[in-house]
Amino acid sequence: MRGEIELPGDKSIAHRAALFAALAKGESLFENFPDSNDPLTTVECLEKLGIQYEYAGKTLWIQGRGPFSFQCPKDVLDAKNSGTTMRLLAGILAGQSFPSIITGDNSLLKRPMRRIIKQLAMMNARISGTRKGTAPIKIRGTNRPLKGINYELPVASAQVKTAILLAGLYATGTTTVIEKIPTRDHTERMLGLRVQKFGRKNYISINKLHQIPPSRMTIPGDPSSAAFFIVAALITPHSEVMIKNVSLNPTRIMFLNILKRMHGIFEIVNKRNPDGEPIGDIIAKSSKLQGCSVGGEEIPLVIDEIPILAIAGANAGGTFTVKNAEELRNKESDRISSVVANLAALGVRVEETTDGFALEGGSLHGGASLDSYGDHRLAMASVVAGLSARKEITIKNMQAAAVSFPNFMDTIKMITNNN
Ligand code: S3P
Repeated sequence: MRGEIELPGDKSIAHRAALFAALAKGESLFENFPDSNDPLTTVECLEKLGIQYEYAGKTLWIQGRGPFSFQCPKDVLDAKNSGTTMRLLAGILAGQSFPSIITGDNSLLKRPMRRIIKQLAMMNARISGTRKGTAPIKIRGTNRPLKGINYELPVASAQVKTAILLAGLYATGTTTVIEKIPTRDHTERMLGLRVQKFGRKNYISINKLHQIPPSRMTIPGDPSSAAFFIVAALITPHSEVMIKNVSLNPTRIMFLNILKRMHGIFEIVNKRNPDGEPIGDIIAKSSKLQGCSVGGEEIPLVIDEIPILAIAGANAGGTFTVKNAEELRNKESDRISSVVANLAALGVRVEETTDGFALEGGSLHGGASLDSYGDHRLAMASVVAGLSARKEITIKNMQAAAVSFPNFMDTIKMITNNN
């Protein structure tokens, strides 16, 4: 694998850019706004709420009119496959005077929503889900301000943190979210929120006087997408791949520490900080990887990269273990059982546990049919597995990759055809 590539804009930043621009008063402009399904779903939901936008050539223009300018949607809002759309939007809609319903695809309808419903209800939002604590989420609307809360997150989740903070814009008093274990901090950075550290905990506060200015930003490349190409280069002989303009936000690149632990060879060059998010170029080279153990507080910071780290582990010497990662079962698929099923199909000796898995690395046999289980990260990880397998593999439901990376296959081909 050889060459230089650029990736779609970061999914987490893109969702927030669109939502925060809608909450601001004035025009915002984002370059490199990804044309992937999830962030565009957020934009479509905003349109149903009366927000004007234009999107062409990866440039998104949004006209925001402030936190109380949304219009009652004529229809149910469809978050499709996007948990971030559903949870963040619920935080904003909880403070509106009009009713709304947010639904999603079959995968999203199975994912846990009680974690936001309970908290938003504590803030006096009139919100409910199904008996199982899943979507559709129904919000009845309220003419009274919400009530600010101090809330310590029981599950390390940036989506839950952000949903509560956004509802805090509609609440009396201050709303403070307390994080025992850090999660991605794009919301804090992009909203310019005060974060205080007491002991090892982060206290993040907001109130309804918090002004969100319109913004201009080039969305940096998605580090979670970069992880697929970095691992592909590390496990393929004679490779050197440069991935340009990737977000180097410290809460997003913990997977690089893990790959370093696995003896991965890469360097980061051209570091800069243009729009409040650090970015740089990553050069990854063929390496002789060694297994390692991943767990504890690093899990929330690598939660999206575990499927591809598992492929790195399967190509490494020794054992690769993931522990304390039960949250993986709540993603676009149950990522513990789907990763384990695909690895087993590839001929890897792997054992599933309640909170992770353990595998014996070596070379991949292949000659199997893998399934993305409708999960974009499983689809892309399977392709990287295929690159290193001895026999051809096929992948079912590959189109799932479009959730975060519609041109994934073209980009992979671009750097593999050079050999
Ligand atoms: C995200 C947070 C994470 C992550 C998801 C995006 C975000 O989810 O898995 O892909 O943008 O806030 P959780 O907050 O549920 O861990």
